[in-house]
Amino acid sequence: MKVITTRKDVSDFRETAVSGSLGFVPTMGALHQGHISLVKAAKDACRHVAVSIFVNPTQFNDPSDLQKYPRTPEEDLNLLGTILSDNDFVFMPEVKEIYPGEDTRIFDFGSIDKVMEGPNRPGHFNGVAQVVSTLFDIVMPDMAFFGQKDFQQVAIIREMVRQMNLPVEIVACPIIREDDGLAMSSRNRRLLPQHRAIAGEIYKNLLRASEMAPTESIDSIKNSVIDGINSLPGFRTEYFEIVDSLTLTPVSNREQLMPEKSYFGCIALYAGEVRLIDNIELKLQ
Ligand code: PAF
Repeated sequence: MKVITTRKDVSDFRETAVSGSLGFVPTMGALHQGHISLVKAAKDACRHVAVSIFVNPTQFNDPSDLQKYPRTPEEDLNLLGTILSDNDFVFMPEVKEIYPGEDTRIFDFGSIDKVMEGPNRPGHFNGVAQVVSTLFDIVMPDMAFFGQKDFQQVAIIREMVRQMNLPVEIVACPIIREDDGLAMSSRNRRLLPQHRAIAGEIYKNLLRASEMAPTESIDSIKNSVIDGINSLPGFRTEYFEIVDSLTLTPVSNREQLMPEKSYFGCIALYAGEVRLIDNIELKLQ
């Protein structure tokens, strides 16, 4: 695999070494098996694969979160070296390469960024759209692969691609979990041992919600998860919403349910100082 740091070298590599489909996995590094599953999906679907490693400052609304975001470039390259081939490349730009000047673009995603992560992380999805659209512009992939753990992010990126009429197919890949059910995330390595030891309870609470889904009221399902998480020492739920999988409109009672739709329960919580998200499909009907 080739490691590239500039736009110009990406463009040269694309012209000279890429013949056939290109699958792209954008990441912020600190890679884990969740990322590797995306790279494998890209390799299965495309002739060439590009992985970007770039901690995007514009999507962090909290400067200390940006500063503490784990950065492990050497380990990342070693891991990617075990799976990528000579046909493939890793793009690791500096901030000034992606943002030579300030990116002042403001995106409008309608209702889908007005819930969940939207109000809790102001500006976050605008920053995600800025960097992903810029990376698409540089890498020019045919397909791009994202983890379903970032459920709302996938919906935002699909909407961005629709609005900008970009020729990129967006593929959402299943959540990869640790043995105890904790969804894999770069942030997990920041968990304190006492929080990591019980973090599998997050998924257990989501599984309980899915068991309750066919029969219990929306309020009972939500309260069960929120109370379950809040009862764990050092854990605090930020939100748990049950949403329409396409519009992300929150559901508050069973009368709103529509037979042709699917619904997901999405959670954001703090384990100590570390913010985690997860989700599960709920068969409410
Ligand atoms: O999901 C992520 O890691 C980031 O939000 C992404 C898509 C790489 C954009 O910085």
